[in-house]
Amino acid sequence: MSASVAALERELGVRLVARDGRGIRLTPSGQALAGYAVQSLALLEQGRDAALAATHPGRGRLRIAAVTTAGEYVVPPIIKAFRLRFPEVEVFLEVGNRAWVFERLRERQADIGVGGRPPGTGAFDGLPFLDNELVVVAAPKHPLAARRSVDPHHLADDVWLLREPGSGTADTTEEFLAEVGIQPPTVLRLGSNGAVKQAAAVGLGVTLISAQAVSLELSAGTLARLRVRGTPIRRRWFLLTLRGAFLPGPAQGLLDFVGTPTVGRALRDALRRRPPAG
Ligand code: PGA
Repeated sequence: MSASVAALERELGVRLVARDGRGIRLTPSGQALAGYAVQSLALLEQGRDAALAATHPGRGRLRIAAVTTAGEYVVPPIIKAFRLRFPEVEVFLEVGNRAWVFERLRERQADIGVGGRPPGTGAFDGLPFLDNELVVVAAPKHPLAARRSVDPHHLADDVWLLREPGSGTADTTEEFLAEVGIQPPTVLRLGSNGAVKQAAAVGLGVTLISAQAVSLELSAGTLARLRVRGTPIRRRWFLLTLRGAFLPGPAQGLLDFVGTPTVGRALRDALRRRPPAG
């Protein structure tokens, strides 16, 4: 055990680590302190950034944690527009599931989250900046692809392709299926939007997915939208921040920037992609 841990234990009068076989593990007190230590170190790093930015406005770091679909399709065009406006800010983007995004914000390892609506606990603020419509897609040769309107019950016996547990898309799909009263006999779990899209395109099943994730495939004709009643399901994307946390300049810059026509144009251009001609 290091001398500084031993000194801290003496100061606090509690054990922080305990022997565990050949190694050591944190005691409950150690675990409690570790959470604060992570946040303190992250806050110190933010302090360094703030000190730098005070002398060199426009410089600094922007750390974004986004849920998968937003990280793959929505955030890159925003970063591109942001970098044109703030070329000296270093941008970091990490992608994970919803619970992880909130954890990164809570631990101050990310300044801004991007995801669906914040939980109703009041711990996070959410700034909506873009609509997110979820649609049902399948292979173009799906028998219901040409229909103007599809009763959801006609998809009751299809294989449903679901993202991994913990993904917002999977949660929305499960809510939708429960709402329309469908219990598909077969559900396949696939761990990425790419895998789900490819599986749907080869005719493995149908899936509910953000229209932004399939704009290219729909316009190229490698996937077809099924016009299922009750869809599109309308959601919104939010910029998320930890309520009461210090917001570094670049993060505040993004919050102010995201509602501007420049970002609106960048998103429209990127999300209504057409396949290259020829
Ligand atoms: P996902 O998140 O990409 O992890 O499914 C999307 C969402 O939260 O709406």
